[in-house]
Amino acid sequence: MPWMEADPLNALEIERAVAILRSGGLVAFPTETVYGLGARALDPMALARIFAAKGRPATHPLIAHVLGQKDARALTTEWSAATERLAAAFWPGPLTLVVPRGEQVPLALTGGGSSVGLRAPAHPMARALIQGLGEPIAAPSANRYQTLSPTTAAHVAASLGDRVDLILDGGPCSSGIESTVVDMTGNTPRILRSGALDFPTLAAVEPALVDASPVALALAPGAAHTAPGMDRRHYAPRTELVVAASREAAIAEARARIRDGQRVGLLLVEGADRAAIPENVRLRALTADPRAYAHDLFAALHDLDEGDADALDVILVEPVPAGPAWRAIADRLRRASELP
Ligand code: TXA
Ligand code: MG
Repeated sequence: MPWMEADPLNALEIERAVAILRSGGLVAFPTETVYGLGARALDPMALARIFAAKGRPATHPLIAHVLGQKDARALTTEWSAATERLAAAFWPGPLTLVVPRGEQVPLALTGGGSSVGLRAPAHPMARALIQGLGEPIAAPSANRYQTLSPTTAAHVAASLGDRVDLILDGGPCSSGIESTVVDMTGNTPRILRSGALDFPTLAAVEPALVDASPVALALAPGAAHTAPGMDRRHYAPRTELVVAASREAAIAEARARIRDGQRVGLLLVEGADRAAIPENVRLRALTADPRAYAHDLFAALHDLDEGDADALDVILVEPVPAGPAWRAIADRLRRASELP
């Protein structure tokens, strides 16, 4: 597929992408969270191409990307005071608000449900695309179903290849982890998916907010979803991923597996004593700051997941600290460790 090195203000590249979207095609584009796989949100045929390209079940709802509250209101029957407050505080940005579906919103977008997820992204290239099209853009993360999320254009190309008509390259995503999804359809707003905006940051604006994402995580295997489109296994590399009980346990397990002749990857939080780490391990050490860790997480997992003949047998992961600032990361690691 053609691959464009676009600078956000390059009108020609945006025009070309808009023309593809207008004719029902797929354009992958950068947002501040992860790369999105975009198509016209109000065109069921274009939406069908997203589901086909990702290999994603049609019951999993897609997020519609808009410029701001004005566009959002046109897609819903109810824009409450709380919704208005959250949008005013965090848009454009990594917050998806789930609101009642407006009549003109196709059921193909909502996975057949009566609500719709809306987000105004902050990335200038994403905004230029929505502006140029003059319509909302549906975009899930630009990766095959359940696999690692893409934070660079190269990740998109590796995962989707010719399944996408154009990839706009805006460099690495600044956040590196998906938007926080908040359900506004009930009596109290509830976080369905932890993400780039953490609970305390959102609760400072909306004190009634409930974090329902740990509930989704604690579900027994095979239990029903608490939110549509939230699988236990998600964000997963091809390689088996194991979150160890501690840093020491991760390193000890690495040593044991290497002794058994396995190829081992180790994902640590910076600060580990290098002398303790066995040789022959493929090591990534991420910064002990949750924002920096989130920024680099998917890129590190993509790296560790590379290779065919020399692919790793296992990726051992040091657990991240408890607490709200790490919750979205703990969620990604937990889901990535689920067996297929
Ligand atoms: O940061 C992001 O949100 C990225 C960028 C591209 O915007 N998009 C993204 O989309 O992560 P996706 O499809 O990979 O994940 C969106 C998730 C769905 O899996 C679902 O759990 C939730 O958002 N969602 C979307 N619409 C919903 C709805 N109407 N009700 C409940 N959950 C919804
Ligand atoms: Mg996704």
